[in-house]
Amino acid sequence: MNTAMDYKHDMAMMFAFHDALRRELGHIARVAAAGTDDPRRVMATAAGWQMFKDYLHVHHGCEDDVLWPAMEKTLADRPDDLALLAALEAEHAAIDPLLNAIDATLANAATPPERLGDLTDALATTHNAHLRHEEGEGLSLIDATVTDEQWQDFGQEHAKRIGPDAPRVFPWMLDGLDNAKTDHILEAIPEPLRAAYRNQWLSAYRQLDRWGVPPGSPESPREWS
Ligand SMILES: [Fe+2]
Repeated sequence: MNTAMDYKHDMAMMFAFHDALRRELGHIARVAAAGTDDPRRVMATAAGWQMFKDYLHVHHGCEDDVLWPAMEKTLADRPDDLALLAALEAEHAAIDPLLNAIDATLANAATPPERLGDLTDALATTHNAHLRHEEGEGLSLIDATVTDEQWQDFGQEHAKRIGPDAPRVFPWMLDGLDNAKTDHILEAIPEPLRAAYRNQWLSAYRQLDRWGVPPGSPESPREWS
């Protein structure tokens, strides 16, 4: 499997976003499997589930609406490459029904408890397989196909869609990343935002009850990562 260093375009944020989604799927599985608390209540009230859905939609939406269309134009006469893009798009489309089914379960107290676990397992399996596919085959095609300008547009689209959520998205995306990767990603944002990340965003994120664990407790979300 390639790493961010193997590409001409800077893939650091792409990998960080994917790793954050994988990390949160682990938390979701842990909450759904917890025997001591009501997983439904935790997922419906703690911030983590809504954040996962919102940020997943930002990332998938930018790929679906900006990246794949730009690539489809360039690859119009290459059916094998177009088939890969179509497969990645179809994998995205398979995620929303699972998110909606989980929300329906959270909203209906009469649903059998095991239904939530079955659905979160299916979500993790489906999404992790998609990430493996995108990283294993998709990123090389992206790297070889998009221009510098198109790659910048893709990054700008993330910034636009994240908008006022940046104070939460950045610490969430960088949670668990090593210092070198964190510094590399922060170098790409303007200094005032970088200062806000270090001085305000990070501490606010650490105080957040993301998965039903009181901030500062031995099992606070930060330590889980
Ligand atoms: Fe991606």
